Amino acid sequence: MVVLGTIDLTKTFKVSGQRPIKVLKGVNFSVYPGEKIAIVGRSGAGKSTLLNILGGLERQSSGTVTRPKNIGFVFQQYHLMPELTVFENVLLPTMSRKMRAFLAPSQSERRAKSLLERVGLAERMHHLPSELSGGEQQRVALARALVTDPEIVLADEPTGNLDAMTGAEILRMLSELSAGSSVPLVMVTHSPEAAAICDRVLTLEDGILK
Ligand SMILES: Nc1ncnc2c1ncn2[C@@H]1O[C@H](COP(=O)(O)OP(=O)(O)OP(=O)(O)O)[C@@H](O)[C@H]1O
Ligand SMILES: [Mg+2]
Repeated sequence: MVVLGTIDLTKTFKVSGQRPIKVLKGVNFSVYPGEKIAIVGRSGAGKSTLLNILGGLERQSSGTVTRPKNIGFVFQQYHLMPELTVFENVLLPTMSRKMRAFLAPSQSERRAKSLLERVGLAERMHHLPSELSGGEQQRVALARALVTDPEIVLADEPTGNLDAMTGAEILRMLSELSAGSSVPLVMVTHSPEAAAICDRVLTLEDGILK
């Protein structure tokens, strides 16, 4: 059973007065339960564009995407809310009306706490993101991505802003958190170490995934 799939996905950016930029030219892609997939390719190849479309954050120009409703997203720039505490940031994805319909607040809070313990930040729960290091902020972002018990995790260069040691720690955590679970991971990355923890490495080149 396919968890997420695309058929002939294309994306063209039209900027007025400029020639349209064809970024994706027919991407066919299937993700199966438990898979870890790395997407590599040169800067500007369209990796973030593809991941954003897979996650429903951006719209394709043509083609179809079939995706689950509950998706965990990890960004290169962490994207934590600066005025919320670590705990509140992790809880944020459970606050939408959609999520509250099937997640009781007490259940979400327990899960947020347990994830913060697993990423080693239980003691920093009531701190603000600005009081944490980059690696710690990315660990918060990992906990946030997993708090809704997503059906798939999408990560855009999750180690891109970290030094090699901290990046390795985040990778270990990503693979531990998904180890033995059927939740697939799709990760855009420049790092050979990150690609090495994956089962499949796909290259985005000339608008096609190979
Ligand atoms: N909103 C936009 N409007 C116009 N062009 C865009 C827009 N977003 C992205 N692009 C263009 O689409 C192309 C692909 O961008 P994208 O961010 O997907 O690349 P990437 O593979 O993630 O690169 P990097 O490795 O540097 O993060 C680039 O040429 C970029 O300039
Ligand atoms: Mg990118």
